[in-house]
Amino acid sequence: MTGKADDERFQRGAYKYAAYLETPEGRLRADLAFGNLQDFLPLPRAEHSLCALDLGCGTGATPVRLARLGIHVTLLDSSAEMLDIAKSTAQEVGVTGMIALKHGDAAKLASLFPTESFDVILCHNILEYVDEPCAVLRSAASALRDPFSIISVLVRNQAGEVLKAAIKDGDLAATKHNLTAEWGQESLYGGSVRLFQSDSLRTMLKAASLEIIAERGIRVVADYLPSRVSREAEYERVFELERKLGSRPEFAAVARYKQYFANRPGPAIKDFA
Ligand SMILES: C[S@@+](CC[C@H](N)C(=O)[O-])C[C@H]1O[C@@H](n2cnc3c(N)ncnc32)[C@H](O)[C@@H]1O
Repeated sequence: MTGKADDERFQRGAYKYAAYLETPEGRLRADLAFGNLQDFLPLPRAEHSLCALDLGCGTGATPVRLARLGIHVTLLDSSAEMLDIAKSTAQEVGVTGMIALKHGDAAKLASLFPTESFDVILCHNILEYVDEPCAVLRSAASALRDPFSIISVLVRNQAGEVLKAAIKDGDLAATKHNLTAEWGQESLYGGSVRLFQSDSLRTMLKAASLEIIAERGIRVVADYLPSRVSREAEYERVFELERKLGSRPEFAAVARYKQYFANRPGPAIKDFA
């Protein structure tokens, strides 16, 4: 399901992905995830600037925004085409000095970077495509600097696929199927995409010695609004509404995506208190 085939899909599909990020749906996913992230970023350290790692950075839209906040960001992706776009974006925005590009496989994370070297790790819509999401989370946990460091994990939510099949597609068979589906269909590329249940993602985070700080839903109702609500003209209102909905557990539970913020608590926390 994952591995080489997905690699190729992102090698050839980087410009398609960049175009998707310009659509109201793509913007909303990225803007909501970034808004949530800003709420949980660690405070700047006196001894060093904050360092972030973006696993499966794609076209670099999010890491470039972090760089503009003064955070040094390492961008890792297995697609050279994605990294090329990320490099151009960083040049356009004038933040090349704040970013480092790394072509590589997130599955090899443990051998790519020293342990305890990042204050922030982003894992946004990459666990859907790797063979062993638990192993990636374990390596990411080891790469977090200290208990004040955070990881942001964004994944496709199985419950959201159920509502989408019913409300958007009116497909009752697919709705029933999605109740237990471990894989969904990628509308952009046509391949498979892993779906996550909240309980199983929580279990994975715990197994990686990560403790959840907060959970947020992304795109709770936006995908189902009737066409008379203009996605473009009403963007700001939809964004504000989604921020409110996504922070309420009862709505977050059925969002298209879920974002989890976690840290790696440890004995060192008392040293910083
Ligand atoms: C759906 S895109 C998400 C991009 C970005 N994180 C975002 O939120 O917009 C998935 C990205 O993960 C990358 N990717 C997939 N498998 C990977 C792997 N094993 N190691 C590194 N990057 C990978 C793809 O090349 C692609 O850029």
